[in-house]
Amino acid sequence: MGRLVVVSNRVPTGMRSADTGGLATALKGALSSGGLWFGWSGEIAPDEAAAEVVRSRIDGNIVFSVLDLTEQDLEEYYFGYSNRSLWPILHYRIDLADFRREHYAGYLRVNRRFARILAEQVKSNDTIWIHDYHLIPLAQELRRLGLRNKIGFFLHIPWPSPDIWAALPEHRKLLSSFEAYDLIGLQTEFDAENFIQSVAREGLEALIPAEKVAAFPISIETKEFAAVASTAGNHPLARKLATSLRGRKLMIGVDRLDYTKGIGQRMGCFGRFLEMVPAARGKVVYLQVTPKTRSEVPEYMQIQREVAEIAGRINGAYGDIDWVPIWYMNRTIRREALAGLYRLADVGLVTPLRDGMNLVAKEYVAAQDEADPGVLVLSRFAGSSHEMDGALLVNPYDEDETAAAIEKALAMPLDERQARWRGMFERLRTHDVECWRESFLRALEPSRPVLKVAS
Ligand code: ADP
Ligand code: G6P
Repeated sequence: MGRLVVVSNRVPTGMRSADTGGLATALKGALSSGGLWFGWSGEIAPDEAAAEVVRSRIDGNIVFSVLDLTEQDLEEYYFGYSNRSLWPILHYRIDLADFRREHYAGYLRVNRRFARILAEQVKSNDTIWIHDYHLIPLAQELRRLGLRNKIGFFLHIPWPSPDIWAALPEHRKLLSSFEAYDLIGLQTEFDAENFIQSVAREGLEALIPAEKVAAFPISIETKEFAAVASTAGNHPLARKLATSLRGRKLMIGVDRLDYTKGIGQRMGCFGRFLEMVPAARGKVVYLQVTPKTRSEVPEYMQIQREVAEIAGRINGAYGDIDWVPIWYMNRTIRREALAGLYRLADVGLVTPLRDGMNLVAKEYVAAQDEADPGVLVLSRFAGSSHEMDGALLVNPYDEDETAAAIEKALAMPLDERQARWRGMFERLRTHDVECWRESFLRALEPSRPVLKVAS
């Protein structure tokens, strides 16, 4: 049995808080019997020659191999094609997509370079697992170089209906490149169905048979997260928050500042709730924790301005000398502190306009106190809504419905909260991230031994 080679645009370098996140830990677990993790360092190379140099770091029996990108790569491959063409299209936002031939050329150039340099490090019996939209053509490039290894792909974000996919100028070429994979994993059955329909629309069924495509809903480290949350109330940030609330109810939103997350719409729904239920004024606080992301992309600059403006407008309209309705923070928070904030919150507001899975919804549930759990208000357009059936499901575009769900959540009696929470927690306990990882790898290679995360 060869090693597992994981490839993703982001590689945990030990520097970012995301390094301790569910995905990083899950994949580290998958690599526990020895493996390689390959991708972008997150750094910029001073020139083209420097972008050819691999930097490797060994951590236990895992080798992390990373490459820098040039300024031009960053512009064309990362900000351009990945985040201004593919990201909006795959999230159903044709209106926000920007298509430029040079961005596509840069995307292919980086995928080719990654393939060339990765091929030198791969052994013939290694299994390769490629992640996310930045690296769709990577397997085809590896095949061109003669690699015959098993190669799987997992898309962390949604796959839209065939008509939306067809708006991408290179849709047919890029779709054909999936031929090089032995297994294509998507988040939900809906995404898998859309993908299979896109293949059929292009008449590519012979190249990409439906048997190669399946849903593998990603999850979190449920047990570990729940354990962290159970003591997280002592974290200084959680204590500070509890004091500042002065007995008020708390609703929480935690998202990257991305237009797919529907943060502005969510604030609008909260405003509608305050309008509809005057008795709630002064008695509830909505905390939105939102680190900035991809700030050089114009659509992200725009959303930053919009969200700040909406928060200001609602606070201006409803706030009082001793009560600010929306607490808005642009920062990342350490995992232990985040778990503490989730646990304090009476309501988790997770209302993306479109999301592949949304792990925040799962983390919120895992962090709750069984004796007094909070209520999850969840968008029906998040992949997690297919599993989190105890949530109050909402259409995030519908202010009245979402405002009514907020009202219902804040007033929900304990026995109903517990009944809803138990079912969701049980689902997360039996379908954690280890289960996701193992079911993908077993489907890719049925003879692979089952791995356990080293504890
Ligand atoms: P996405 O992958 O689109 O950002 P997810 O909800 O699936 O959305 O995953 C986001 C991850 O990032 C979660 O693990 C969440 O805890 C983490 N995260 C989001 N916002 C913050 C924040 N402000 N501080 C720390 N971690 C955060
Ligand atoms: C989503 C994507 C990931 C990406 C992450 C953060 O979760 O699916 O591939 O790494 O967002 O975005 P960033 O652009 O900072 O890597």
